Amino acid sequence: MDSKKAKESMIIMTELVLPNDTNIFGNLMGGRLMYWMDIAAALSAQKHSNAPVVTASVDNISFENPIRLGNVVHIEAFVSRAFNTSMEVHLNVWGEDVLHQYKYKSNEAYYTFVALDPNGKPRVVPQLVPQTEEEKKLHEGALRRRQVRLILGGKMKPDDAAELKALFTKS
Ligand SMILES: CC(C)(COP(=O)(O)OP(=O)(O)OC[C@H]1O[C@@H](n2cnc3c(N)ncnc32)[C@H](O)[C@@H]1OP(=O)(O)O)[C@@H](O)C(=O)NCCC(=O)NCCS
Repeated sequence: MDSKKAKESMIIMTELVLPNDTNIFGNLMGGRLMYWMDIAAALSAQKHSNAPVVTASVDNISFENPIRLGNVVHIEAFVSRAFNTSMEVHLNVWGEDVLHQYKYKSNEAYYTFVALDPNGKPRVVPQLVPQTEEEKKLHEGALRRRQVRLILGGKMKPDDAAELKALFTKS
């Protein structure tokens, strides 16, 4: 199976915050944003794997800045690392006040997807080759983030998380 570049999985999604997307303060609801992020990230994982995918986990998301009614939401997603059947997707989200030409960071997140075969079973995905410095940094960190997810999900023993443990034992 050929390996693929991170940029080949890039998805850019643009949405407009309408009244039905907001909370009582006139800001975009977190749940609506996470829904859009899930779609953008799933499309990115599908592009990388050329297979249908399901969301396996979502890392904690902090909302740095609210996105106002009438502002534009920009979501950028690409695969930061492919494992065996799973892929980590990195997302960056910005809000934009188009009238005042002001763009601001809203949040950043990692979603993990598993590619499925026609029987609904996990299937192997192509490896990902990072190219830029940012991609290489994300690619390296993905190993540790995966270990945290699997430990919290009860699917890995902390003792088996070599890269994570090394963080705390470095001299
Ligand atoms: C995600 C799912 C396919 C994993 O299936 P499973 O039977 O546990 O399969 P495995 O244990 O063989 O794990 C398959 C892959 O999922 C990964 N995985 C499992 N649980 C995970 C978690 N909590 N976080 C991150 N990755 C996880 C494993 O690491 C493995 O990846 P790898 O092959 O790259 O090492 C299964 O739990 C599922 O279908 N969940 C529901 C998905 C869903 O409905 N999502 C919401 C709607 S899209």
